[in-house]
Amino acid sequence: MQTRRLTRGGLQASVIGLGCWQLGGSWGEVSEDQAMATLHAAADAGVTFFDTADVYGDGRSERLVGRLLAERPGEGLVVATKCGRRVAQEAANYTPEALRQWAERSLGYLGLDRIPLTQLHCPPDAVYEDDRVFDALDQLVADGLLGEYGVSVETVAQGLRAIERPGVTSVQVIFNAFRLKPLEQLLPACERAGAGVIVRVPLASGMLSGKYDENTTFPADDHRNYNRHGEAFDVGETFSGVPYDVGLQAVRRLAQVLPEGWSLPEVALRWCADAPGVTTVIPGARNPEQARANAAVGDRPALGADVVAEVEAVYRDLVAPHVHSRW
Ligand SMILES: NC(=O)c1ccc[n+]([C@@H]2O[C@H](COP(=O)([O-])OP(=O)(O)OC[C@H]3O[C@@H](n4cnc5c(N)ncnc54)[C@H](OP(=O)(O)O)[C@@H]3O)[C@@H](O)[C@H]2O)c1
Repeated sequence: MQTRRLTRGGLQASVIGLGCWQLGGSWGEVSEDQAMATLHAAADAGVTFFDTADVYGDGRSERLVGRLLAERPGEGLVVATKCGRRVAQEAANYTPEALRQWAERSLGYLGLDRIPLTQLHCPPDAVYEDDRVFDALDQLVADGLLGEYGVSVETVAQGLRAIERPGVTSVQVIFNAFRLKPLEQLLPACERAGAGVIVRVPLASGMLSGKYDENTTFPADDHRNYNRHGEAFDVGETFSGVPYDVGLQAVRRLAQVLPEGWSLPEVALRWCADAPGVTTVIPGARNPEQARANAAVGDRPALGADVVAEVEAVYRDLVAPHVHSRW
C-alpha cells in the first residue's frame, strides 16, 4: 500500500483509506459484526486512514472505529472525523462552545485523548468567513483536543476559500470520473498550499462499480433511495448529483475501455489516486470483500493516458452538463 503525506502538519495516510459512513447508517442494514469485519479487513489490507463523522449513525460509526483503534494499538492507524451537522445549518450555531462540545463527544466515542484530524462537515458558506470559528479550532488544537483540522466541502469555491486559512490542513471533496471540476483549480491550489486532499464518493455512491442497472432497487433507509433529488441533504452526495439513467449510460461507455486485468471500480479508484494533488481516496465499503478489493488498488500502477482521455471524453459528452456548473 502506498502512503502519502496527508496534512500540512505531516500526518501520513494510505493512498486508499476507508470511508465509514456505511458503518453508521443511511446505506441499508450493516450489522456491528459486519462493520467490525469490514474495518479489520481494511486494516489487514494496509489501510491506515479511516474517515468518519459524528452524525454517521449518531455516533455509531465513530464508536466502531474507536473499537478498531483499541483492538489494533500501535499500528499507526489515523482517524479523521467531522463535526457541525448535528445542528441546524446556520453559521450562528458554530460557536466556540459548540465546537468544543462536538470535539469532546467525538473523543468519547473514539476513545481517544486527541482527534488526529477533525473536519468541518460541509458547513454553510458564512462559516468560511467567520474568524471566530477558526480561532476556536486553533484553540482546540492548542488545548490538545485536536491534532489538526480540515474542511469537507461541497464546492470548489469553498475549498479554495478554506485553504486561505492557515490552520486548515486538509480538504475533503467529491472527485471522481463524474466530477472533474476539482482538477482545474482546487487540486493544484491544495498542492501549492501543502494541504491534503481527501477524495470522497470516488465510486459515485457505487454507480462507478458498474453493478447497477435500470432494475436495481435500494432499501428504504438507503440515501440512494431517498435523496436522489436532494430531499434530505445535498443531491451531490448521492450518485454525485448525476441523474441515475445518465450515470448508467456513462458507466456502460467506461466499461468498454477497461485495460486488461482491471475492473471498473479498480479503474475508478486508481484514476482518483493518480490525479496530482490527491492524498488519499476513501471509498465506502459495506463488507470485507469490498474493503479488500478497494485496498488492493493502493498497490496498482498508474493508468495509461488512453484511459484517462476516455474518462475525460465520457465526462464531457454525458456528465458535465448535469454537474460542472453546480459544484
Ligand atoms: N459530506 C461529507 O463529508 C461526506 C459525504 C459523503 C461521503 N463522505 C465520506 O466518503 C466516503 C465515501 O463516499 P461514499 O461512501 O458516499 O461513496 P462511494 O465510496 O463512492 O461508494 C460507496 C459504495 O460503493 C459500492 N462499493 C464500494 N466498494 C465496492 C467494490 N469493490 N465493488 C463494488 N461496489 C463497491 C458500495 O455500494 P453498495 O452499498 O451498493 O454495495 C458502497 O456502499 C463515505 O463513506 C464517507 O466516509 C463524506
